[in-house]
Amino acid sequence: MANTILIGAQWGDEGKGKIIDVLTEDADVVVRTQGGNNAGHTVLIKAQKFVLHLVPSGILRKGKVCVIGNGVVVDPVSLVSEMEGLRKLGVKYKGNLFLSETAHLVFPYHRELDAQRETLQGKNKIGTTKRGIGPAYGDKAARTGLRVLDLIQPDRFKQKLELKIKENNEVLKAFGAKPLLFKNVHEEYRAAGDYLKPFVANTVVLLHEAVRKGKDILFEGAQGTFLDIDHGTYPFVTSSNTTAGGACTGSGIPPHRMDRVVGVMKAYTTRVGEGPLPTENAEVADMLHAMGREFGATTGRPRRCGWFDAVATRHACMVNGIDELAVTNIDGLDSLASIKVCIGYRCDTKRYEFVPNDTEALNRCEPVYAEFPGWEASTSSARKWKDLPPRTRSYLKALAELTGAKLAIASVGPGREQTIVL
Ligand code: IMP
Repeated sequence: MANTILIGAQWGDEGKGKIIDVLTEDADVVVRTQGGNNAGHTVLIKAQKFVLHLVPSGILRKGKVCVIGNGVVVDPVSLVSEMEGLRKLGVKYKGNLFLSETAHLVFPYHRELDAQRETLQGKNKIGTTKRGIGPAYGDKAARTGLRVLDLIQPDRFKQKLELKIKENNEVLKAFGAKPLLFKNVHEEYRAAGDYLKPFVANTVVLLHEAVRKGKDILFEGAQGTFLDIDHGTYPFVTSSNTTAGGACTGSGIPPHRMDRVVGVMKAYTTRVGEGPLPTENAEVADMLHAMGREFGATTGRPRRCGWFDAVATRHACMVNGIDELAVTNIDGLDSLASIKVCIGYRCDTKRYEFVPNDTEALNRCEPVYAEFPGWEASTSSARKWKDLPPRTRSYLKALAELTGAKLAIASVGPGREQTIVL
């Protein structure tokens, strides 16, 4: 399969979990490289639904080595609970799951600060998942964070945590929030540290060994291109590099060891949280929500929905160097008589072929649409390209052409088997 970076080409929730699961069949190692438990990757295997937040989705296939890389921010208590949940469902991970010793930790004060800042922002809030992701990456950049290395060394951890709780309680008090009790946080985190210790490794060395042995590695992206801290719709973004470069820094594997980039996108567009979404459309949202679709895997929030935005996916193709496309949720459009696709933005007198950097300008952009005839037939039982209605095939070919990459996978439902590999 070669070393493959898989990224979300829209605003997250593109169905990456399922595509990762499909590609994992041919991978030896699966690595998470950024984000934290703000992610929610859903995989459906024989009617059993798995939602993964920190553990790479590769864990659902036997014998795959799964790595939580140095670029991830880890809430250890939440990770333990996720691992225990998987264990109860019969998923085996002992000897297969590795956690980077340099991954940064998320603490309750990060979560509390996340929530307090959102409240303070009022109507200008980001709409975060309130998992403490921004404040944790903030500590990392400020060089004041604690890492997995610290967590598994009791004396060092106690000393560092004491100081962090003291400092953060001052900030929490200024917000009028309840201070944290060192003893409680310490106990809970130390227990998680003991549980996680056997899984902790120098994952950079481990991954390079895999590269040397010619193993195939899948770099599992979380969130999506327009939530990237550098390339997204700032400030309505997450705090990590969700684009292809993040796979290198978040794992320690250099760019010239990467062989291909797969971009995952829905056949329409969705976003959770605040920020611009040029093709947002209430009718598309109502239709998808009425089908029971498009509710967040992590927070349960209804996602905002709209037409496919080829300006955004073209931009994603450029920033990530996408070679191949995986288009998901095609069946979500089955009932429509006519389908719109955004092929350009108009803002004041300007026309944009790529997403403008100024989020305020993007907010004023009007989409320019092309219209495609719908197929008005169920696609969910299609297993081969020729099983798809001709109009579905034309639509998908147009999406690939407008985006500028090769269509490689078409997904017509959440099940493993509902996948057409071209
Ligand atoms: P945070 O990552 O919790 O700080 O949230 C920042 C923004 O990213 C918000 O708009 C979230 O809704 C969004 N976000 C974070 N993680 C995901 C995800 O896994 N899928 C979709 N949106 C996400």
